Amino acid sequence: MTTIVELNKIRQEGLNRIKLRQSELGKEFIDESHGFKKHHILVCGGTGCHSSNGDKIKSLIEEKINEKGLSEDIQVILTGCFGLCESGPNIVVYPEGVFYSHVTLEDVEEIVEEHIVKGHIVKRRLFKESYVEDKIKPVSEVNFYKKQTRIALRNCGVIAPEDIEEYIALDGYSALGKIITEMTQEEVIKIMKDSNLRGRGGAGFPAGRKWEEAYKYNADQKYIICNADEGDPGAFMDRSILEGDPHSVLEAMAIAGYAVGADQGFIYVRAEYPIAVQRLEVALEQAREYGLLGKKILGTDFNFDIELRLGAGAFVCGEGTALMESIEGRRGMPRTKIHRTAHKGLWQKPTIINNVETLANIPIIFQKGVEWFRNIGTEKSPGTKVFALGGKIENTGLIEVPMGMSLREIVYGIGGGIPNGKEFKAVQTGGPSGGCIPAEHLDTAVDFESLGELGSIMGSGGMVVMDESNCMVDIARFFLDFSVEESCGKCVPCREGTKRMLEILERITEGKGEEGDIERLESLSETMTSASLCGLGQSAANPVITTLKYFRDEYEAHIKDKKCPAGACQALLEYYIGENCIGCTKCAKACPVGCIDGKLKERHVIDASKCIKCGACMAACPLKPKAVIKR
Ligand SMILES: Cc1cc2nc3c(=O)[nH]c(=O)nc-3n(C[C@H](O)[C@H](O)[C@H](O)COP(=O)(O)O)c2cc1C
Ligand code: SF4
Ligand code: SF4
Ligand code: SF4
Ligand code: FES
Repeated sequence: MTTIVELNKIRQEGLNRIKLRQSELGKEFIDESHGFKKHHILVCGGTGCHSSNGDKIKSLIEEKINEKGLSEDIQVILTGCFGLCESGPNIVVYPEGVFYSHVTLEDVEEIVEEHIVKGHIVKRRLFKESYVEDKIKPVSEVNFYKKQTRIALRNCGVIAPEDIEEYIALDGYSALGKIITEMTQEEVIKIMKDSNLRGRGGAGFPAGRKWEEAYKYNADQKYIICNADEGDPGAFMDRSILEGDPHSVLEAMAIAGYAVGADQGFIYVRAEYPIAVQRLEVALEQAREYGLLGKKILGTDFNFDIELRLGAGAFVCGEGTALMESIEGRRGMPRTKIHRTAHKGLWQKPTIINNVETLANIPIIFQKGVEWFRNIGTEKSPGTKVFALGGKIENTGLIEVPMGMSLREIVYGIGGGIPNGKEFKAVQTGGPSGGCIPAEHLDTAVDFESLGELGSIMGSGGMVVMDESNCMVDIARFFLDFSVEESCGKCVPCREGTKRMLEILERITEGKGEEGDIERLESLSETMTSASLCGLGQSAANPVITTLKYFRDEYEAHIKDKKCPAGACQALLEYYIGENCIGCTKCAKACPVGCIDGKLKERHVIDASKCIKCGACMAACPLKPKAVIKR
């Protein structure tokens, strides 16, 4: 059993061990060589880097360090995701903060020999933005990180998630310790309400209000659930928090348990997240071993424990009541909402369900105070939001920014803009339940309210950037396709409505759109939004509603002119050879169906009736601009 005094001792010792990583030396540093004898080499152990040999790279670095007899001075740590997954496998070397990306097993020997032993940085493996105009920047100076405010992700990529003492070193479990020894339940709830922390799982409901409801409701048993189902395609913020900092979620659940009077928690996590599951299992075991979960936590009378429940990956199981059905052993289908789950939730007992990111914010609010938290973000949406930034953007990855940052700053300042000199067209926020926001709203400050005003939602934080080559009708079709697959079928408006909408969108993208289709889509959207039983059906039409609002001309071009202005819908495309053709014959040789005719040094012609629209001719044409065009 650990006591508060022992916890403080572990914290002090741990801090000494890891302070090299927090060193400010990196800021002053950087020329070609340095005199550091001690290093911490942080290797990203998130899913992305793991899948491209991250763990093997870590083992090989350790092997090389051992071979050179340096293991006393050099610590190699497997962390959670750094956020820049696309550049992985990633490594950061402290105290300099040198950021290596795209590291391969073949690079390890050179990094150890040149950087660690001789003090020469291996420039060819530096992250692109870390080495500009002959200057090397430490990771803290890279735009991608510099413009972020990391609260929920504060420990991701910084500590070893499988070592509870590293979490404790950075004040982990101090909030829980203080709360259960010094505070009343009412005081805890008041801080939660004053902080106005809003749910990060999608709806933005204030966590403190929910906690108060459950606290006030009398019952012999109450439960805390962590929603780690994360079904949005492309979203991976919850996974990264669980992989990189599982104890922050366990600590927050215990705090919630104390506040409302629950002694049992469940984490509902999808089975497709094996690294997160494994790290949670390790974290749970360690927390129990250190007396931070289980009976008589930190020597007090407070008992709280947590069990894992693995979900099979249905999107609808992320919906609170469907998730509870699933934990209870039934098919995951949303309940008809007669009761609040804070009154009658899991097994009809008062239940708090909070999202992973919501929970990850909680311990630090109690450490640093309400004022600190409310100074970040906006009045109505305090704090930060984690986004999975993807699509047509230079820096794909996980970012955390203060609420209220503009979309432009996110896309250009942090994301590095649109690749290949293309134009920004729109950004889809909120995944399949969200909407597409066009360029004219790039200066919108991102928070729950402003996204709602534009017809989109914050959702769990998916942010997909689109450029001029994306067809907005096709994007709406893509998200509807997802909703059709994931609809549980319990209610008619969603079960039938999503299908009918998808059929119409498919017809339109295939050039078979009819007069009246837009009106049919609008009418279906209205019915689904107002009459569906759960959030899936109520929001499934959002991608259609917003693309109709902002890109109606694209729908009309598909339906009336049988043209796809973005040149993305295969069925509506035509390949054509322009007047600048020099007759080099390369396209004719590349065409798999032999439908290009023409003599050497004469303009060639495509037989459109035979063309299968494979694009090989365009790829083969050597001219700039190309003589083969899509229209
Ligand atoms: C179809 C559907 C899927 C959902 N999926 C998730 C999810 O994966 N994770 C999540 O935290 N919330 C999800 N939610 C929202 C939850 O119902 C619930 O509002 C949330 O877990 C509450 O936590 P919060 O208040 O901390 O955001 C989903 C809702 C719907 C309608
Ligand atoms: S809205 Fe869709 S997912 Fe939700 S209960 Fe109805 S059919 Fe199921
Ligand atoms: S698109 Fe393909 S099939 Fe059509 S002309 Fe070009 S190479 Fe031939
Ligand atoms: S490859 Fe380009 S330039 Fe050469 S024949 Fe074909 S269209 Fe003309
Ligand atoms: S998984 Fe390595 S940076 Fe995200």
